[in-house]
Amino acid sequence: MEVIVTNNYEELSRKAAEIIDSQLKKEPASVLGLATGSTPLGTYKELVKSYEKGQTDYSGVSTLNLDEYVGLSPDHHQSYRCFMDKHFFDLINIPKENTYVPDGRAEDLAEESSRYEQIIDEIGPPDLQLLGIGENGHIGFNEPGTSFESGTHVVELTPSTRQANARFFDTMEEVPTYAVTMGIHSIHKSKRIILLASGKHKAEAIRQLIYGEEDEQFPASSLKRHPDLTLIVDQEAYALVNEKG
Ligand code: F6R
Repeated sequence: MEVIVTNNYEELSRKAAEIIDSQLKKEPASVLGLATGSTPLGTYKELVKSYEKGQTDYSGVSTLNLDEYVGLSPDHHQSYRCFMDKHFFDLINIPKENTYVPDGRAEDLAEESSRYEQIIDEIGPPDLQLLGIGENGHIGFNEPGTSFESGTHVVELTPSTRQANARFFDTMEEVPTYAVTMGIHSIHKSKRIILLASGKHKAEAIRQLIYGEEDEQFPASSLKRHPDLTLIVDQEAYALVNEKG
């Protein structure tokens, strides 16, 4: 695992965008695995900036998002499809049909999960997967206890994850209870994984990721066995890591 420590969130975002931009230069038909949430927002901003300067071209790029809430329509302002359109896809020249997000409104969610896993295999695996991390170590919506062998599946969100996401909704009741997420095994299919963490609320998760054993109670620990993992963390998120461990 490679660890890049940055001074702050802005530098973290620039670093992540630089890596993605150079991936696109190397392989214009790259497949990118993408995440939502607060952490990658700065990265998307930086990617849009370099696109606007004419430094990148998304016409041949495909994207696969990690997850989607169950029950929210694609145009609901808190759906992950809407988030991606607003913060990234609508601001670059990617053909919309090349952007994949699980369908949280599918009637048969088990079937939707298998369909999405098949898409990952058909158009992927991603050359590069961007990840955030939950304070409880979740990646995607894989909560503690998720099997490391899991493919795309439906998951019940823990109270702590619902609470953490409540800030985006008007009331707690509106926060969805279920999501469709790539599984841990699906995430591991990516050739390269970049995990971002910013802020002191992520420091304990980063400490556990770096020093802890692989443990299904801490989903991000599975990443330790991935052959090409880069952590980009700012100093606050790195604060509990020290040389002695
Ligand atoms: C989002 C996702 C989640 C987030 C995680 C951290 O697609 O898969 O695992 O990456 O909840 O969220 P933020 O970045 O908001 O702290």
